[in-house]
Amino acid sequence: MTRLRFALRPILRQIAALTGGFALLLLSGCSKLHQVFSLSGPQSTMVTAGPVAARQWDLFMITVWVCTFIFIIVGAVLAYAQIKFRAKSEADEHAAPPAEAGHGNPFVEIGLIAGSVALLVIIAIPTVRDIWYTHDVPEDEKAGAMDVTATGYQWWFKFDYPTEIVKLPSGGEAPLSTGNELVVPAGTPVRVQLRTVDVIHSFWIPKLAGKVDMMPNRANFLWFKADKPGYYYGQCAEYCGESHAIMKFRVIALSPADYVKWLDNQKASARTVTVQSLAAEADLPHVKFASFKEVGPHSTLSGSPEFDADPFTGWKKMQAPEAGENAQLILTGRKLFQEKTCVSCHTVRGHEGTGVAGPELTHVGARSSIAAGVLENTPERLHQWIKDPAYFKPGNKMYHGGYMLLEGDEWKPNPKMKFDDKGEEIDALVAYLHSLK
Ligand code: CUA
Repeated sequence: MTRLRFALRPILRQIAALTGGFALLLLSGCSKLHQVFSLSGPQSTMVTAGPVAARQWDLFMITVWVCTFIFIIVGAVLAYAQIKFRAKSEADEHAAPPAEAGHGNPFVEIGLIAGSVALLVIIAIPTVRDIWYTHDVPEDEKAGAMDVTATGYQWWFKFDYPTEIVKLPSGGEAPLSTGNELVVPAGTPVRVQLRTVDVIHSFWIPKLAGKVDMMPNRANFLWFKADKPGYYYGQCAEYCGESHAIMKFRVIALSPADYVKWLDNQKASARTVTVQSLAAEADLPHVKFASFKEVGPHSTLSGSPEFDADPFTGWKKMQAPEAGENAQLILTGRKLFQEKTCVSCHTVRGHEGTGVAGPELTHVGARSSIAAGVLENTPERLHQWIKDPAYFKPGNKMYHGGYMLLEGDEWKPNPKMKFDDKGEEIDALVAYLHSLK
């Protein structure tokens, strides 16, 4: 026994070192330890919020249990053999290996094959069942399902509502479109057509469903349902270039009544703020929703502590006009939105923007995040984002193509996109964009 303990000592030491190292890694790398240990972070697949994700999680757990069973059986047999047949003396060290007991024994060999097949069948039955389930909305729920189209761009997500038609500034009609925040009614199955305009992206809402690739020239598809109203985090899950890791989005599930209200507001043209309209709106509830935390280079930190603690309430607050709106500043911002050529890439229905290269901004002031879910949509953050988009999202097209223009082989600053040094022009743009509720 002493000898065995002696032999195990280095192994035990390695296990202790590994455990300590892993604990240190967790402590140094993550300030939200409770989320790590409870496995309940905002992008945890283990605390699910809809039937598709729940099925995927259950299937994962069935596989884990089967594998754990195999691990224990194989490990026990291995440990038994190691201990029972270990060399007990000097003579044992040089002895010939014992004869194989099971080789050629039909009982052992057929038993092992039958056992393996049985375990594979245990995994296969729920796998096939869930492939069917996650493939499309169940028959009895099809009638009440809704459709959206999600399109991946480097690096943001566009969401279109094909059944909700709106008038475009150019005179035509198009499906209602939003950027990076998909709002859906809770309890309703949502069919998402997955498209991309450039490279392969992958659509993933860990708590609701996923992940399915958005492939060029291929019509992919998934469905999900949020059990109850809430704010869910989504993420591109396929490497798609420089800013892949910060290509995020949100799904906001509302009660059916709130959803209808949201839809009506979204379908309306952009809000126009004047001194008179502000006076008329004076009695409506206003919010002041601004918080700011300094970030380091390329930080992907999205929210203030208040926002992170309860993003759903934060999102709801964003729906109302902000307190202390300045009609003159907003008007200046609207003019700058044209002069700085923002209009050629962004649509603002009812105002001047007609471009489609970037996200639709008709109601951008009501979104809780900007820059594909990377930054909380506060005035300070929006200011920083407009000032230097490449700082937060390297390689993005607002910078290359808006701020910098390609002349021959060289990127040169676009003189139209030069802002004044004090940032007053950007402040006006921020006021305008935040007025678009
Ligand atoms: Cu899009 Cu990764």
